[in-house]
Amino acid sequence: MAGGKEQRILEHVQQNAKRGDPQSVLDTIDKYCREKEWAMNVGDEKGLILDNLVREADPPVALELGTYCGYSAVRIARLLKPGAHLLTIEMNPVHAAVAREMIEFAGLNNKVEVLEGSTESVIPRLKTEHGVEYADFVFIDHFGNRYAPDTKLLESCGILRKGSVLVADNVIYPGAPDFLEYVRTSGRYDCTNFPSHVEYTDKPDALEKAVFKG
Ligand SMILES: C[S@@+](CC[C@H](N)C(=O)[O-])C[C@H]1O[C@@H](n2cnc3c(N)ncnc32)[C@H](O)[C@@H]1O
Repeated sequence: MAGGKEQRILEHVQQNAKRGDPQSVLDTIDKYCREKEWAMNVGDEKGLILDNLVREADPPVALELGTYCGYSAVRIARLLKPGAHLLTIEMNPVHAAVAREMIEFAGLNNKVEVLEGSTESVIPRLKTEHGVEYADFVFIDHFGNRYAPDTKLLESCGILRKGSVLVADNVIYPGAPDFLEYVRTSGRYDCTNFPSHVEYTDKPDALEKAVFKG
């Protein structure tokens, strides 16, 4: 089959999942990645924690840093109330294209917009070009060395307000030490750690929730 792993995941979903059924899309990706090819989706185990945090925050506007194949975008968007929406930023054009098709297949393209570009370039344009006043929920899941600088960029661009919830993946593996130190010691966030495992493995990992105090 032509194309890389991300294309194979998409084609597997298109052939085996039920169109317009987000849960079927998620289950099909999880089964494929557990049995055939590992991929860096947040996965089903950490996904359940993420689900609870999205439900609890019930955000009118959600933002994601790092879309990949659209797995977590589908996961988050399927829980959003009518009128709420998710913007997700992805710098790799192949990943962005796969994600757009995945989200469309799941029937969620009216709730999700994939913004193609690096977080460094897109975050400063969220207010002016994408109509974002504030993000109430931010799923941080791109590369660990960008977690801290992009959190500070979200603050300086005025994207966060009191009560905005940040949820960061992979804070144990591969790890995001600068981010953990910043959110836990800056005095600007209330933090909670949710221990779990790296997707589709039994290796320790965790999500970190950090609520902006304003
Ligand atoms: C771990 S994957 C995201 C997984 C996805 N959130 C999920 O759970 O389904 C990380 C993604 O972030 C993207 N990425 C890495 N650094 C980025 C940056 N600075 N700006 C935008 N995207 C970035 C990568 O291309 C990759 O697709």
